[in-house]
Amino acid sequence: MDSNSKIYVAGNTGLVGSAIIRMLKSKGYTNILSTPHSNWDLRNQEDVNRFFRINKPDYVFLAAAKVGGIGANSEQPADFIYDNLMIQTNIIDAAYRNGVKKLLFLGSSCIYPKLPEIPITEDQLLTSPLEPSNDSYAIAKIAGVKMCQAYRKQYGFNAIALMPTNLYGPKDNFDINSGHVLPSLIAKFHGGLSHSEHYIINLWGDGSPKREFLHVDDLAEAAYTCMENYDSEEIINIGTGEDVTIKELAETIVKVTGYQNYYQWDASKPNGTPRKVLNVDKIKSLGWEPKIGLLEGIESTYEWYKENVV
Ligand SMILES: NC(=O)c1ccc[n+]([C@@H]2O[C@H](COP(=O)([O-])OP(=O)(O)OC[C@H]3O[C@@H](n4cnc5c(N)ncnc54)[C@H](OP(=O)(O)O)[C@@H]3O)[C@@H](O)[C@H]2O)c1
Repeated sequence: MDSNSKIYVAGNTGLVGSAIIRMLKSKGYTNILSTPHSNWDLRNQEDVNRFFRINKPDYVFLAAAKVGGIGANSEQPADFIYDNLMIQTNIIDAAYRNGVKKLLFLGSSCIYPKLPEIPITEDQLLTSPLEPSNDSYAIAKIAGVKMCQAYRKQYGFNAIALMPTNLYGPKDNFDINSGHVLPSLIAKFHGGLSHSEHYIINLWGDGSPKREFLHVDDLAEAAYTCMENYDSEEIINIGTGEDVTIKELAETIVKVTGYQNYYQWDASKPNGTPRKVLNVDKIKSLGWEPKIGLLEGIESTYEWYKENVV
């Protein structure tokens, strides 16, 4: 990308899209295009084709998607498969047909099997069954990966696919029902601060699953590294390569928010995959390293939440 390149960031208001825009602006890119959801429904092929025909972007970061935690995925599997298939299919096809030089597709570590070998290497994709609680989302994302590979193979289109681990940071979804575990816990413990000393917070699962968390600003830097230096049909994992139990995560968030009352685990609610940490050798071989530690990242995210959400 050069400083005059037209760069389209799909999903500009989201956690990832807004971080990519912050990153691009910090590096001096000014010709950034977006399609705010309020005016554009990216599930609509005519809308997407019209946008590409008129604007002719050079590069595309595809960060628009329907995203949510275990609860939302279990309750709305139809929306998760439909919205994601439509958005990514429309954008990847229109990008190829309108001469885009390179497209970066955001997949997710949810595409890997429920019981993978740890740490999860990229070659474990489609080697055994998926976690059922979010398989609609995972299947849609796998279709996106295959579409990038197929357009490269048949048309020579330079489309790459990144598989980030769990992300967090400014602009995350802090809704306790539809958000991912880290922002939901921030919202729950912050919400608990205003209650009496007999208040008890109930947390999903038994706290034993281990998860990896990456600050979204680190992900945005990894996306830039890949846009500049990675041209392969092979998917590439983005993460820290380190995981913590959900119990440890909750304890950290309790410390950061200053919550002093009780909380308990509800083991009748699903835990999801027991362990999910990525092998990140490939992205590290391109010279990228995460810079924001978990405690520091949670502290700054909590500050952002207090200033912008509550
Ligand atoms: N969050 C994570 O932990 C995580 C982890 C791994 C991978 N990823 C991947 O990263 C990508 C972005 O995720 P995110 O966390 O940034 O999600 P997000 O915060 O929910 O943002 C999604 C973006 O897409 C937009 N959007 C959704 N449906 C749309 C539609 N029909 N038409 C137009 N715009 C639409 C949203 O607009 P509105 O907000 O206005 O609806 C928002 O700007 C996804 O592909 C996801 O799979 C995320």
